[in-house]
Amino acid sequence: MMRDHLLLTSCQKRRIFVHTFGCQMNEYDSLRLVRTLLLRGYVTTTKPSEADVIFINTCSVRAKAEQKLYSLLGRLKRLKDQRPNVVLIVGGCVAQQLKGAIVERFPFVDIVVGTRGISELPDRIERVFELRSREVFFPDEETSLGLNHLDVASTNWSAEVVEFVTIMQGCDNFCSYCIVPHVRGRERSRPSHEIIEEIRMLSAKGAKEIVLLGQNVNSYGKNLSPPVRFSELIERIASETDIIRLRFTTSHPKDLTEDLMACFRDISILCPHLHLPFQAGSDRILSMMNRGYTQLDYIKKVERIRSYRPDIALTADVMVGFPTEEEKDFRETLKLIEIVEFDGLFSFKYSDRPFTVASSMGPKVDERTKTRRLAELQKLQKDITFRKNRAEEGTIRTVLVEGESRLGSGQLTGRTPHNRIVNFEGPKELIGKEVAVRITEGYAHSLKGELMMENKL
Ligand code: SAH
Ligand code: SF4
Ligand code: F3S
Repeated sequence: MMRDHLLLTSCQKRRIFVHTFGCQMNEYDSLRLVRTLLLRGYVTTTKPSEADVIFINTCSVRAKAEQKLYSLLGRLKRLKDQRPNVVLIVGGCVAQQLKGAIVERFPFVDIVVGTRGISELPDRIERVFELRSREVFFPDEETSLGLNHLDVASTNWSAEVVEFVTIMQGCDNFCSYCIVPHVRGRERSRPSHEIIEEIRMLSAKGAKEIVLLGQNVNSYGKNLSPPVRFSELIERIASETDIIRLRFTTSHPKDLTEDLMACFRDISILCPHLHLPFQAGSDRILSMMNRGYTQLDYIKKVERIRSYRPDIALTADVMVGFPTEEEKDFRETLKLIEIVEFDGLFSFKYSDRPFTVASSMGPKVDERTKTRRLAELQKLQKDITFRKNRAEEGTIRTVLVEGESRLGSGQLTGRTPHNRIVNFEGPKELIGKEVAVRITEGYAHSLKGELMMENKL
């Protein structure tokens, strides 16, 4: 009897499948939707064919990202033909970019939601189930941004070892190539107390490390009244919560202030890793990109931050093939990479995006040249990263264990404070703990290690 009852309820539970493209902010938005739905009795599934609700959270930052959505929607059309009751949702930055055009082009989509509609989404999904309505909405503002509404006591969701917290939305920088300010709107910071409460709640649920998210976290708090500095927020998090590691992303070089750099020296929970995109090495291109700094400014910032924290790991975003980029401009990008010696780079081929100033700049760089430049740049960086990873061999690092490694066979995975991934053998009970690991091998993208016997440094 009891068993039947349980079976019935689990069958009735709606299953949600989520596919997220793009940045960590999209990941965070997807997660806050999922967690809200879990509290309403939904369950998650990894198979779209079994789902009652499918949420596609889209990214529009490069042309390729947009194309990926279209091929996915093509596949989902077949699924929707077979199971018409599935609620198919397109959200995120492409939804905001194309607005109503999504349903004109893909009439089988049930809900189109803009970048500020996540908190409204659960009720809209219910409406579709009840009324089979079509919901297309693009709010200008979102009333509830974070996860603060979630019930800490609920067993329906648990925190990961590493959790993300969005501290601000939108961007006011208008880099000439970038669609983000157009689809994410103006820069808005969340009040500090709300962020602190969210971190406390996640920590109570077992989170150990928090990554603060924003397109340009360095300008956090400028629009709050009274204004709050980003370094003040970091200090508050360090003193008012009990998380053991803190990171943030992304930083804009022009807003990287001395007080923030000093945090890397003074605040022990702040990990020695900074993601500081530079985008290009040529001053002419940087100016056309509207980045607000020169190559020399960037190098000086790097020297400055290294004076506060000599061992800091640096990563960045960079692109090749911005309109008018010549070979000598590209050489400046390579030069900057050689001077700074980044620990890792995310590198992209420039592509035209709607609404942006750069899309009407020319002449454009042809695809073959972009491909060649990207390959050359990636080769240079690969060698640097590999060399740095090899230099880790023999060191003992404190690793926060995040989970079981995808490599399988009883391996655990975690990160060093410098954000290097380490795989090593150990018992699952260590997940969520900081342990001492001796690094035995450095590879291109990760490290291999050995758990130290006493487990302390
Ligand atoms: N706010 C972050 C980055 C957001 S987008 C920052 O300012 O650093 C992530 C990366 O995508 C950018 O850093 C840039 O390198 C890349 N990107 C943005 N627009 C692009 C475009 N039109 N073509 C190719 N890459 C782009
Ligand atoms: Fe885009 Fe520039 Fe804003 Fe980053 S800072 S999101 S690259 S406009
Ligand atoms: Fe992409 Fe939107 Fe993030 S365009 S990078 S998902 S803000």
